[in-house]
Amino acid sequence: MPPGSLLYLSWVITLNLASTSSESQDISCPLGYFPCGNITKCLPQFMHCNGVDECGNQADEDNCGDNNGWSQQLDKLFEKHYEKIGLNVFDLEMKPSECTLGPVPTQCLCRGLELDCDGAKLRTVPSVSPNVTIMSLQNNMLRKLGPDEFRIFPDLRKLYLQHNNIRTVSVHAFKGLYNLTKLYLSHNEITTLKPGVFEDLHRLEWLIIENNKITRIYPQTFQGLNSLILLVMMNNFLERLPDKSLCQHMPKLNWLDFEGNNVQSLTNTTFISCATLTVLVMRRNRISTISENTFSSLYRLDELDLANNRIEAFSPSLMKGVKELSQLNISHNPIQKIQADQFDYVIKLKSLSLEGIEIPNIQRRMFMPLKNLTHIYFKKFQYCGFAPHVRNCKPNTDGISSLENLLASIVQRVFVWVVSVITCFGNIFVICTRPYIRSENKLHAMSIMSLCCADCLMGVYLFVIGYFDLKYRGEYNENAQAWMDSTQCRLVGSLAILSTEVSVLLLTYLTLEKYICIVYPFRCLKPGKCRTITTLILIWIIGFVIAFIPLSNQTFFHNYYGTNGVCFPLHSEQPESTAAQIYSVIIFLGVNLAAFIIIVFSYSSMFYSIHRTAIMATEIHNHIKKEMTLAKRFFFIVFTDALCWIPIFILKLLSLLQVEIPGSISSWVVIFILPINSALNPILYTITTRPFKEMIGQIWSNYKQRRSIGNRNSHKACAPSFFWVEMWPLQEMSPEIMKPGLYTDSEMSVTTHSTRLSYT
Ligand SMILES: *[C@@H]1O[C@H](CO)[C@@H](O)[C@H](O)[C@H]1NC(C)=O
Ligand SMILES: *[C@@H]1O[C@H](CO)[C@@H](O)[C@H](O)[C@H]1NC(C)=O
Ligand SMILES: *[C@@H]1O[C@H](CO)[C@@H](O)[C@H](O)[C@H]1NC(C)=O
Ligand SMILES: *[C@@H]1O[C@H](CO)[C@@H](O)[C@H](O)[C@H]1NC(C)=O
Ligand SMILES: *[C@@H]1O[C@H](CO)[C@@H](O)[C@H](O)[C@H]1NC(C)=O
Ligand SMILES: *[C@@H]1O[C@H](CO)[C@@H](O)[C@H](O)[C@H]1NC(C)=O
Repeated sequence: MPPGSLLYLSWVITLNLASTSSESQDISCPLGYFPCGNITKCLPQFMHCNGVDECGNQADEDNCGDNNGWSQQLDKLFEKHYEKIGLNVFDLEMKPSECTLGPVPTQCLCRGLELDCDGAKLRTVPSVSPNVTIMSLQNNMLRKLGPDEFRIFPDLRKLYLQHNNIRTVSVHAFKGLYNLTKLYLSHNEITTLKPGVFEDLHRLEWLIIENNKITRIYPQTFQGLNSLILLVMMNNFLERLPDKSLCQHMPKLNWLDFEGNNVQSLTNTTFISCATLTVLVMRRNRISTISENTFSSLYRLDELDLANNRIEAFSPSLMKGVKELSQLNISHNPIQKIQADQFDYVIKLKSLSLEGIEIPNIQRRMFMPLKNLTHIYFKKFQYCGFAPHVRNCKPNTDGISSLENLLASIVQRVFVWVVSVITCFGNIFVICTRPYIRSENKLHAMSIMSLCCADCLMGVYLFVIGYFDLKYRGEYNENAQAWMDSTQCRLVGSLAILSTEVSVLLLTYLTLEKYICIVYPFRCLKPGKCRTITTLILIWIIGFVIAFIPLSNQTFFHNYYGTNGVCFPLHSEQPESTAAQIYSVIIFLGVNLAAFIIIVFSYSSMFYSIHRTAIMATEIHNHIKKEMTLAKRFFFIVFTDALCWIPIFILKLLSLLQVEIPGSISSWVVIFILPINSALNPILYTITTRPFKEMIGQIWSNYKQRRSIGNRNSHKACAPSFFWVEMWPLQEMSPEIMKPGLYTDSEMSVTTHSTRLSYT
C-alpha cells in the first residue's frame, strides 16, 4: 500500500489540478466586472465559473478553483522532489520485481528492496536484510520504538509507521538512519519527543507526526534535521510553541503545519529564522495573542492559515514582512475590527478568507490595494459588492438573495407572485362581496373587512418584493446594499409588519368577542357601533405605531427592516442594535405569542362550552354532525394560526439564542408561511361560511333563472330577495334552526339577541 496519509493524497490530487493562472490586469473593467483574459471584453462577476464560456476564449471558466497557497506550494515542492528522485514515491506499487531482501516474514510483501508489512499484526520491527530501502509497517501493533531499533537498516529511505500503538519513542530509536528522507509517525499515541531523537536524520525531508498526543516540543527536538522541508504535527496537544526559534535546526523548512493543536499564542521569536517557510498552517488552535513582528522574518511565506482561532485583534503591521503572501485565511476568528489599511502590506494576495467575520465598516478601500486578488471569502454575500474587482467572491447568496437576484431560487421567484395574487385576490374579493351579503351584523362585517384590508397589505408587500426582484434581475449584487438601505425597502417592510400586526390584533379581537358571547352568554354585551369602530381604529393605530416606530429613530434602530433582501425583520445576520433586538423580541415573542395563546385558549374553551350546551339541548344525533363541522373549523383556524406563527416564534427564539439560521429558512418563512394566514383568512372567515355559500348559490340560481327567462326581470338579481342571518362566521347551521323561533338553548339565544339588536 502506498502511504495512506491524507496529505499524501492531496499531494497526488493537486498534481492533476496544477493550474497556471493567466491573469491580465491591463484591461480595466468597470466595478463588478472582470476581464476576459487578454481580450477587451468584460463580464459581470457572476458569470465567472458558471460553466458557460461567455468570453469566447474560456477565460471566464479559467482559474475557477482556488489553487493558491499551499496547493501551489505543494506542486512546486513535488516538482522539485519529482525531479530529484523520479518516480520513487510510487515505488511500492509501480516496480513489481523479484524480492532481493532474502527471507521476509510471511505476512509481509516484498518487492526489490522494499518491504510492505501493512496490517501484519507485528509487535516488533521485523528483522530483514539490512539492504531494505523502504519499510512500511502501517496498521500493526507496535507499542514502542526501542533504542537502535532501525540501526541495522542504514539504507532505509522511507519509513511508514502510521496506525500503530506507539507510545514511547526512545531517544535512540532512529539512530543511524542517515539515508532516511521520509518518516511517518501519524496516528499513534506518542506523547513526547525527546530532544535529539531525530539527530541522525540529516537527510530527512518529510516528518509527519499528525494525530498523536504530543504536548510539548523544543527546538532541540528537531536537532539534526538539516534537510527537513515538511513538518506536519496536525492534531496533537501542543499548548505552546518554543520561545526559541523553531527553525533553528531546520534551515530548509518549507512547510509547517500545526493545525488542530491548543497553541495559545505566537511570540516574535517562534518563527524568527524561518526565512524559507512558505506555508504556515495554524488553523484550529486557540491563538488569542500574536505579538508584533511574529511573522516579520517570513519573507517567503506564501500561505498563512490562522483560521478558527481566537484572535481578536489583528494589526495590519503584523503582515509587514510577509511580502510574498498569496493566501491568507483568518476566517472564524472573533476579530473586532478590520482596518481600512488592513491588507496594505500583502498586495500579492490572491486568495483571502474572511469567513465568519463581521465587517461593519466594510469599504472598497480595504481590498483596493489587492490588485491580484482572485478569490475572496466573506461571511455575507453583500460584502462582495465591496470587492468588485475580485473575480471569485463567496458566498454568492445569503439564502434569500444571490449575487444576481433578490430572490435566489426560481421557486421563490414564482411563488412570491402566486402567493401575492392569491392573497390580494382573495381579500379584495371578500372586501367587494361582503357588502352584498345582507348581514344584519354590519359591525362584524366591518371587522372582517378590516381584517381583509390588513391581509391584503401582505399581498401588496409580496407584490412589491416580486417587483423589485424583477427590477434587479441579474444584477442584484450591485444594488443589494442600496436596496436594503432604501426608503422603499423600509416602507415595504413596515407594510408587512403593519399587515401582520393588524391581522393578529384583529383576529384576537374577533376571537375574544366571540369567546365572551359564547362562554358567558348572559354577560354578553353586544358591542355597539361606536365601540367596534373605536376598537378597529385603535387596532389600526397600534399597527401603524408598531410598524413605524423603527423608522422614527435611526440611531436606536439602525436599519431595522433592511437587514435582508425581503426587508422583513424576522432575523438579521448583521448585528442588530440592542433596541432593535429588544423591539423585535417584544413584537414577535411578546405581542404575537400572547395573541396566539389567547386565540388557542379562547377557541378551546368555546368549543368545550358549545359542546356542553349542545349535548344538553338537542338530540345527540343532530349534534354530532354539527359538532364535527364546528370542530373542523376550530381546527383550521387554530391550525393555520399555529402553522403561521409557531415557526416564527421558533425562529425568533433561535436567533435570540444566537443559533445560526440559514437565510433560506427565513426567506421561505416570509414568502410562504407568513402569508398563510393572510391568504386563508378570507376563506376561513367568509368564503366557507354558510351565508356566503348561500349567497353565491342564490346568485347562481338567479343567473340561471335570468338566462332562461331572458332580460325581463334582470333587476331582481341585483336585489336578492333572501334574508341573511349573519352568524359568527364559524357557525354552520342547518337552515331549519336558523329561524329565530327555534332558538332555544343559551348559545342560540345569543344570536337571537344580537339579531334583535341589529334589527333596531
Ligand atoms: C491571447 O492569449 C492567447 C494565448 O493565451 C493567444 O493565443 C491569443 O493570440 C491572445 N490574444 C490576443 C488578442 O492577444
Ligand atoms: C546487500 O547488498 C549487497 C550489495 O548490494 C550484497 O552484497 C549483500 O549480499 C546484500 N545483503 C543481503 C542480506 O541480501
Ligand atoms: C546511505 O548512507 C551511507 C552513509 O551516509 C552511504 O554510504 C550510502 O551510500 C547511503 N545509501 C544510499 C542508498 O543512499
Ligand atoms: C520581541 O518582543 C520583545 C518584547 O515583547 C522585545 O523585547 C524583543 O526585542 C522582540 N524581538 C524581536 C526580534 O522583535
Ligand atoms: C479558510 O479556513 C476556513 C475555516 O477552517 C475553511 O473553511 C476555508 O476553506 C479556508 N479557506 C481557504 C481558501 O482555504
Ligand atoms: C500581479 O500579478 C502579475 C502577474 O502574475 C504580476 O506581474 C504583478 O506583479 C502582480 N501584482 C502585484 C501587485 O503583485
